[in-house]
Amino acid sequence: MSTTTLAPARSRVGWTFVILLALGVAAFAAIPYFTGSLDELAAQGVGLAADYAVKPLPVQVALYLHIAAGALALIVGPFQFWRGLRDRMPRVHRTTGRIYLIAVAIGGVAGVVIAPFSPAGWVGLFGFGALGVLWLVTGWRAYRSIRRRDVASHQAWMIRNYALTFAAVTLRIWLPLMLLTPLWLGMPWEFESAFANAYAAVPFLAWLPNLIVAEWLIRRRGLPSYRLPA
Ligand code: HEM
Repeated sequence: MSTTTLAPARSRVGWTFVILLALGVAAFAAIPYFTGSLDELAAQGVGLAADYAVKPLPVQVALYLHIAAGALALIVGPFQFWRGLRDRMPRVHRTTGRIYLIAVAIGGVAGVVIAPFSPAGWVGLFGFGALGVLWLVTGWRAYRSIRRRDVASHQAWMIRNYALTFAAVTLRIWLPLMLLTPLWLGMPWEFESAFANAYAAVPFLAWLPNLIVAEWLIRRRGLPSYRLPA
């Protein structure tokens, strides 16, 4: 088999993984929040419901907006990279692109609003806060570049933006890995302290490596890589 047929096959496998992981996180992390009140979910031990059930109403509203918009962006995002759809149905690409960017705008602003209330304290504020701001900035840059008809820059900014959206998935991969690491190392283990330890790292670990992978993909595709303004 030639390398030219291998590359699309690899890329299809990669995208299938991305879509399955995105659907998995939307189904198992986001949908449960819409199956009952925060108090009921807290009693069932769903995600961070117990932390947010005692927060002021505007914070709870922001949490729900964030989860709904974030899940939408996570699911819609991969289809924007599908060249067949872009070439054959550019109008669909444009409409779903707008839906995606509006979801990022709502999810990002709501994410910044809830970041100061994270149980991870200052690390949560700065880690999730920076993620939220970068999510908004990269989405805005992607939009501005396509308005200027600069397709290459648009693609590069969308790769960075979806890499940040994908933090919702990578966070949920890092967290159990870090929770279980002391067990694998044969160290004494207690859930509360293992969770607190892991949760102190994920607000940054969830997205910093994603940005590095995004920049690598951008260079590999010959798209304009990031340069600091002169
Ligand atoms: C990329 C930018 C994002 C930022 C800045 C962000 C920020 C946050 C913050 C600050 C929290 C509260 C965490 C805490 O209190 O410690 C949170 C929770 C949550 N976020 Fe995001 N998030 C982002 C993307 C997403 C996406 C794309 C989804 C899609 C499913 C999502 C789904 C959730 C869910 C379900 C929770 C509730 C916590 C849980 O049960 O795991 N987030 N997010």
